[in-house]
Amino acid sequence: MDDQEDDVTTGDLRAVLFGPPGAGKGTQAARLAERYGVPHIATGDIFRANVNGGTDLGREAKRYMDEGELVPDDVVIGMVADRVEDSGEAGFLLDGFPRTTPQAEALEGLLDDLGRPLDIVLHFRIDDDEVVRRIAGRRVCVDCGATYHVEHDVPEEEGVCDRCGGDVILRDDDREDVVRNRLDVYREETEPLAEFYGERGLLVEVDAVGDPDAITERATEAITSVRDGDTAA
Ligand code: AP5
Repeated sequence: MDDQEDDVTTGDLRAVLFGPPGAGKGTQAARLAERYGVPHIATGDIFRANVNGGTDLGREAKRYMDEGELVPDDVVIGMVADRVEDSGEAGFLLDGFPRTTPQAEALEGLLDDLGRPLDIVLHFRIDDDEVVRRIAGRRVCVDCGATYHVEHDVPEEEGVCDRCGGDVILRDDDREDVVRNRLDVYREETEPLAEFYGERGLLVEVDAVGDPDAITERATEAITSVRDGDTAA
């Protein structure tokens, strides 16, 4: 990746990452947000922070999250619009939003109004068996949302986040029955966005299996080619 460092234009990348639960969106979004100097806006992380903080939004979201269902569109759309407008930045990396066609249409309308259209939509591809393997081993920090894995990405001190010292735990919605429902909801509600963004020439498929560094490389190459003027998908 270092040999491409000079190609990076920081601060103005506008990208969406989408793919099934456990595809590595959060892992890659954190890396890409740092690399491109844009805020990482992750709706799941925002909801979990509200659940931990005991807010009204958190109480409402938890009812859906614990069952693997989607939080209603009107709640999510308002929340993301506030973040995008308030960020004061030209760019952003959206992780876990949009997840339904109404959300995608609302985002498109918002960005049209702001005169800041999307550059690229990265579609992370992975099969269900790998999803289940990854999610079974995932652990997350309750305070900062950092993600670990029991087999290949463990914190230095067991159960303690390297980044902030918070507790590292199993997510409530990572139980196998809930994960299966999340996969069903993904197929029904979210996967159609591949067509939505394909029609707009924004979609790039990314093979999300393999070494995390290699996947970052694939995503970076896709972003570079779109910014160099090649047509996405
Ligand atoms: P959210 O938090 O967005 O969950 P998700 O989309 O199901 O995605 P995950 O966080 O499970 O996985 P990920 O793709 O980020 O993978 P990760 O990098 O962690 O949403 C949770 C809930 O909030 C939803 O179910 C819904 O209820 C609600 N919600 C959120 N947004 C909403 C919206 N827009 N509308 C309505 N409701 C919404 O990686 C997974 C594991 O694999 C980790 O342990 C990681 O270390 C490991 N890993 C990562 N990359 C690799 C690799 N290359 N090889 C091996 N292991 C890897």
